[in-house]
Amino acid sequence: MRFGLKFNPFEWASHDHKMANRKTEWKKITDVLSSAYNGETCRFVLALGDYGMGKSFMLNQIFRAATESRGVLAIKDVLTERPIPTRSLLRSSPEFDIPSRIVANLGEVKLLDLWNRAKSRKLDHIRFRTVFEQLGAGNESAFRFLIGEKLKHDELEPLGMRTSLRPPDDSIRSLFETLKIARLAGYHSVLVLVDEFEAIMSKLGPTAAVRVLDALRAIFDEYGPLKDQAAKIVFVFGLSAQAWDKVGDLERTMVSRTGGGGISPFVERILPSDKIVLNPFSLQNMIELVESRLTEARVGSASDKLHPFTREAIEFAYSVSKEKPRVILQLCYMLLERASEKEDVSQVSREFAEETLREYNIAPPAAEEDVADNR
Ligand SMILES: Nc1ncnc2c1ncn2[C@@H]1O[C@H](COP(=O)(O)OP(=O)(O)O)[C@@H](O)[C@H]1O
Ligand SMILES: [Mg+2]
Repeated sequence: MRFGLKFNPFEWASHDHKMANRKTEWKKITDVLSSAYNGETCRFVLALGDYGMGKSFMLNQIFRAATESRGVLAIKDVLTERPIPTRSLLRSSPEFDIPSRIVANLGEVKLLDLWNRAKSRKLDHIRFRTVFEQLGAGNESAFRFLIGEKLKHDELEPLGMRTSLRPPDDSIRSLFETLKIARLAGYHSVLVLVDEFEAIMSKLGPTAAVRVLDALRAIFDEYGPLKDQAAKIVFVFGLSAQAWDKVGDLERTMVSRTGGGGISPFVERILPSDKIVLNPFSLQNMIELVESRLTEARVGSASDKLHPFTREAIEFAYSVSKEKPRVILQLCYMLLERASEKEDVSQVSREFAEETLREYNIAPPAAEEDVADNR
């Protein structure tokens, strides 16, 4: 890479970067979360934003902040599409049994750690005590039991159990026993991140989707009577605003089909102030993002923090960016790659940007086209 840069800093996949913009949203999120952590109910927080607007980035920031909050146990992305180690352990409709996924993503090592901190305390209210004792003794069936694996008779016996857990009721019970252990280990809250929540709607039929939402509703309701015994769950869902509207549509079709909803009981448990919308980037926000990324790759320092981009080039790119950070990063990535290949190009000017982006069919703003908008 030329221009005094060690590499092209505009990758658009990972989230290990400084946050640009989002001061208003971040303040709102930290207020909502601190109220949730201090409260006495489970909470459903929504992070809404169009594709590429920075939902996954935000969830990642929330996760990091939570790992530094006292008394908060943070569990990452329970709906992730990426293969995770526990996935092969979960055979029956693994993705969408959210209660089991929470225990699975917490992980055996962490659960063991929680148990070791909890086991010397008063345990009268713990229902799967033998299971946890077996977990502590190194019996690997114990964790598999808790995440809803089908176990054989001789695996169940040492756990003091006759049957494996059946979702959703048993998965929810297992989750609550885990939340009790977490509480004894000193956690008042468990933060659960659910990215791309719309997968529930797009991958499941309406009936199954309603079942998932109803399991969430059940978690909320069952926490009430257990609030002095169990850590509470604070869910943060990332999804697009359009997908959230579809939840409303689904509700209406379910009502006309079955006469009963099944979705509103979930929706009604969401505090209206717990919906946080990630707004589009302004030009100033884009400049902040671009400068911050360039700094990551810069050899030494530059008097012009946008170098090799001219401000006019950035203004042009912004006009075709749909105001989304992902598109901004992709446009800058392409421009920098192309400019770096051409020895005679000493900066990314507006002309160069227009020419290059036109070549890739990224039309000027007048003819709105959906080119760079893929996830
Ligand atoms: N506020 C921000 N500051 C810095 N980078 C961001 C910000 N928001 C998003 N990004 C980056 O933009 C890209 C797209 O964001 P992402 O969170 O994946 O969007 P979404 O999940 O809404 O589709 C990612 O590379 C992400 O790291
Ligand atoms: Mg995302």
